Amino acid sequence: MPLDLIIGAQWGDEGKGRITDLLAAEADIVARYSGGDNAGHTITVGEQIFKLHLIPSGIVHPHTICLLGSGMVVNPAILLGEIDHLGSLGVDVSPQRLKLSSAAHVLTPAHIALDAAEETRRSGDMLGTTRRGIGPAYKDKAARSGLRLGAMRRPEDFASQVQEHMQAAGEVLERIYGFDSPDPDEVAGIYCDYAKRLRPYLTDVGGHVAQALEDGATVLGEGAQGTLLDLDHGTYPFVTSSYPTTPGALLGLGVGPKHLRRIIGVTKAFQTRVGSGPFPTEVFDETAERLRGTGENPWDEFGTTTGRPRRVGWLDCVLLRYAVRVNGFTELALTKLDILTGLDPLKLCAAYRQEEDRHKDLPDGPADLSPFTPEYNELPGWHNDLWEARHWDDLPPEAQNYIGRVEELTKLKVKLISVGPEREQVIRRDIEA
Ligand code: GDP
Ligand code: IMO
Ligand code: MG
Repeated sequence: MPLDLIIGAQWGDEGKGRITDLLAAEADIVARYSGGDNAGHTITVGEQIFKLHLIPSGIVHPHTICLLGSGMVVNPAILLGEIDHLGSLGVDVSPQRLKLSSAAHVLTPAHIALDAAEETRRSGDMLGTTRRGIGPAYKDKAARSGLRLGAMRRPEDFASQVQEHMQAAGEVLERIYGFDSPDPDEVAGIYCDYAKRLRPYLTDVGGHVAQALEDGATVLGEGAQGTLLDLDHGTYPFVTSSYPTTPGALLGLGVGPKHLRRIIGVTKAFQTRVGSGPFPTEVFDETAERLRGTGENPWDEFGTTTGRPRRVGWLDCVLLRYAVRVNGFTELALTKLDILTGLDPLKLCAAYRQEEDRHKDLPDGPADLSPFTPEYNELPGWHNDLWEARHWDDLPPEAQNYIGRVEELTKLKVKLISVGPEREQVIRRDIEA
């Protein structure tokens, strides 16, 4: 019966995949609802590390049905690569358990080329996109000229549509941007083959989810990106082109809010961002090096999709409160608490200063954060390794105090506390008495 959502509360990479993996054990269906392969979700299960871009993280649990919702843009080459890779690892990726919304949009090589062309034209004002073609694919959708996955049911007709789209996009690429464009006939042929392979996976995802909820199933919506990257509610224009927030989840799954139960906001214990845009609590000194890591560990702050070093900073509770408001979170999941070990004192942004004014909440959304200076709370750090902590009482008092302050500032309970990348490295206050 319930629909639970896992939503990024920051600028992405909060550890949504890791939290999804945890809760997927208790779910029947796991569904991605927005974005495309700009997402990179890492799941660590013992020796195995899964890096997923399109397929929901729930696929790692054999009992789940996994869905790609209508709010997504799907690069079929990436999807088939993931299907083949997971299949080679012995994961069941048959159409019985992996299903694609007919209403999701198809992403093509033209979208990828246009993404690069648009970024090049922006030059010094680059958005720092993942260059996966996301913006141009959603642009076609909004212009009502996009290709939907459902068209793959008739591969030959679909190929003609792809051919026409490539032709039209090619003219823009060549004439406006002076870029080479991929050969329309070649791409159409390749996409015809993709259609033949993906056809059996197509379904009415909204209908499937609605029926499952009526039948008493537990559905977990897996967010991609994060609230501050939301097209409407993020740090525009330094955002993605989809809606990674609660409203976007309902839109991208195709169901109403009736069955909503938990809306879990996932936040790191600090702040990170890839790409350009405002970041009031960003740090650059040795603290930054500590937070980012060197790149040696899989969890160090280097992008899963792009490999770019992530920008890092102190946790910004003004922005977190904003994310709570936009999404209506019922609780928080705090990840990477272990990374703060050894940093003493810790800082946490509790408010913004603007000359004489003090703001606990954003006066006018997050698009322009330049007038503000963070006002920090300094809290004592801890030096204990947290990797073995499994219960609240295993945490040093300073860590409890840090989480308590986050709870005070957000007026929400931190119900899940992640202290390492592994499945079991978590403190579950949602099931503890
Ligand atoms: P997502 O995009 O929100 O799913 O997050 P990513 O997978 O891109 O980035 C999170 C990274 O942090 C992954 O490498 C995770 O394995 C890792 N991770 C998640 N939670 C923790 C944690 O509590 N501690 C540590 N050290 N790593 C974590
Ligand atoms: P997950 O699901 C972090 C960022 C890009 C860029 C902006 C626009 O792993 O959390 P786009 O390619 O979407 O047009 O880029 O959004 N971005 C992400 N940053 N994690 C993600 O996904 C992201 N998806 C997009 O870096 O700043
Ligand atoms: Mg990621």
